[in-house]
Amino acid sequence: MDALKLLKQDHADVKALFKDYENLGGRAFAGKKKLVDKICLELTKHATIEEEIFYPALRAAAPDSEDQLDEAEVEHASVKALVSQLTQMDPHDDLYDAKVKVLGEYVNHHVKEEESEMFTKARQSGLDLTAIGQQMGARKDEVEVVPVDGSMMSGGSATDQRSAGR
Ligand SMILES: [Fe+2]
Ligand SMILES: [Fe+2]
Repeated sequence: MDALKLLKQDHADVKALFKDYENLGGRAFAGKKKLVDKICLELTKHATIEEEIFYPALRAAAPDSEDQLDEAEVEHASVKALVSQLTQMDPHDDLYDAKVKVLGEYVNHHVKEEESEMFTKARQSGLDLTAIGQQMGARKDEVEVVPVDGSMMSGGSATDQRSAGR
């Protein structure tokens, strides 16, 4: 599948999950927990394939996307911190709903930036988006758990991986 199509589909899927959360009753604690677990796993999978595959490929192919990619990585870190907290929380806890709401807002903002500027650069970059999409699809299937410490899935942060490769 085309890389941008895959990423856009992920964005739409997670957006729908946040919407489902909003539509749950305030006391639907079991339903909330289930949905949040799903949101956290989907965001983890998505962040992993972007950080391991899409971002480094774009960074290499489109040097003028550097600032956007740096920003995106910082935003991922904020998303992951909230994902990590929510994973360890109970839906009865104070601030649970607030954290889900803020997480949704972060994700919305981040997705908007990706789908506008970043995807435009990716299209212009000459990257083989079909090959990258295939790689990402395969990697996505391997990610099955949300790390509780908010770190990357494997091999340290994207920054570590970059410096290690130098
Ligand atoms: Fe992202
Ligand atoms: Fe994304």
